[in-house]
Amino acid sequence: VPIVAMASGTGSLLAALIERAAAPSSSFRVAAVVIDRDCAAREIGEAAGLPVVVCRLGDHPDRDAWDRQLLAEVDRFAPDWVVTAGFMKILGPAFLGRFAGRVVNSHPALLPAFPGAHGVADALAYGVKVTGTTVHLVDGGVDTGPILAQATVPVLPDDTVDTLHERIKISERELLPDVVEAVVTRGVVTDGRKAQIS
Ligand code: GRF
Repeated sequence: VPIVAMASGTGSLLAALIERAAAPSSSFRVAAVVIDRDCAAREIGEAAGLPVVVCRLGDHPDRDAWDRQLLAEVDRFAPDWVVTAGFMKILGPAFLGRFAGRVVNSHPALLPAFPGAHGVADALAYGVKVTGTTVHLVDGGVDTGPILAQATVPVLPDDTVDTLHERIKISERELLPDVVEAVVTRGVVTDGRKAQIS
């Protein structure tokens, strides 16, 4: 099953996805990597011999044009699913119209707590003792889509944002590929804001 992976950062989560896809037992393959900026994820995709497409918001007159271009780029690879692995942009109506219910995201907090781009720092600042990671379907909101899976991660007294985020990433690198394998083989049933892997 072809998927397209999208990233914006160091790409460690992308690397875990690519590694799992390459396993003989895997049911999915990464058809392409799409990034919205020059980032380390480019090298990770290229090292894996995958097509890497850069689609920068700044290269377009407005967000709608970028959203349509992003859709066109992803559509070329005809993925059954799209996985955002550290992709730091909100997908627009054109993209979600085409891939409604088929975009899976990993967020480094236990949604609905601490959504947005600073979920790890917000959790640490709040003083929670347990945080974690959430894999969810992407809807038009910020980290608001139906939840598919979660895993808890302890917060340690001397944690910094970096040490906590790295611990969360270890959990994400396990959970996200597991969930992708499950949804590409079994599908997802949603009921309002609830989702269940079939
Ligand atoms: C992950 O924690 C992901 O949940 C968040 O961004 C991080 C990506 O890390 N959205 P990396 O760029 O894959 O190392």
